[in-house]
Amino acid sequence: MEKGTLLYEGKAKQIFETNDEDVVWIQYKNSATAFNGEKKADIDGKGVLNNKISSLLFSKLAEKGIQSHFIKQISEDEQLVKRVRIIPLEVVVRNVIAGSLSKRIGKEEGTPIQKPIIEFYYKDDALGDPLITDDHIDFLEIATREERAEIREMALGVNEVLQGIFKEAGVTLVDFKLEFGKDRNGTILLGDEISPDTCRLWDAETNQKLDKDVFRRDIGSLTEVYSIILERLGGNKLCT
Ligand code: C5P
Repeated sequence: MEKGTLLYEGKAKQIFETNDEDVVWIQYKNSATAFNGEKKADIDGKGVLNNKISSLLFSKLAEKGIQSHFIKQISEDEQLVKRVRIIPLEVVVRNVIAGSLSKRIGKEEGTPIQKPIIEFYYKDDALGDPLITDDHIDFLEIATREERAEIREMALGVNEVLQGIFKEAGVTLVDFKLEFGKDRNGTILLGDEISPDTCRLWDAETNQKLDKDVFRRDIGSLTEVYSIILERLGGNKLCT
């Protein structure tokens, strides 16, 4: 497989064409951003950690029958994925109250949620990714009713599998964000990444934050806590 021209550069990843039109090459970057890009830093080792964690989680999901765009990890900070057209939705699944939901509904962080809460945000940096309703999704023609239902079901399925994986690792899966895309046949696939950048992960015993909140809130070393997650998932340590 050959790496071609740069197709797109996001906040955390670069996406390159390959000599196969159905496959793209993802390079994870060291940049960390928060608050829609207002806070930025370059953190050595972050790209490698997220690539390894995301590759590991996508592989574990595939073992449990949940397909994604992930094909394989090809280097410390690169992976090959199926080419999809990203649906402009950020799908957030919550098992414990935290972050923006804590503020929005005035409930303390850490409050348990009996039945997972799913939220849809419109993926649009210029608008600051606003929370949207089903009617907004219809109006904007982002996804059909059937597709929306399928995405919900897939997100709940991913939650169940991830909760199991993290429980075994002694970690509480507080919440996370997923993105979905469509391949050339219109099949909906799980896309983007699953990493401590996109999940809230708390130590199951101490509630220590092991995710990007350490960067957002300046409460610890990002690479230290991401390394803990990688190790607990059975991945190898950051080798430099
Ligand atoms: O900020 P908020 O509480 O809405 O975030 C919910 C979850 O979605 C968190 O795990 C956060 O890391 C993730 N998220 C993300 N990308 C965004 C917004 C939220 O990965 N643009």
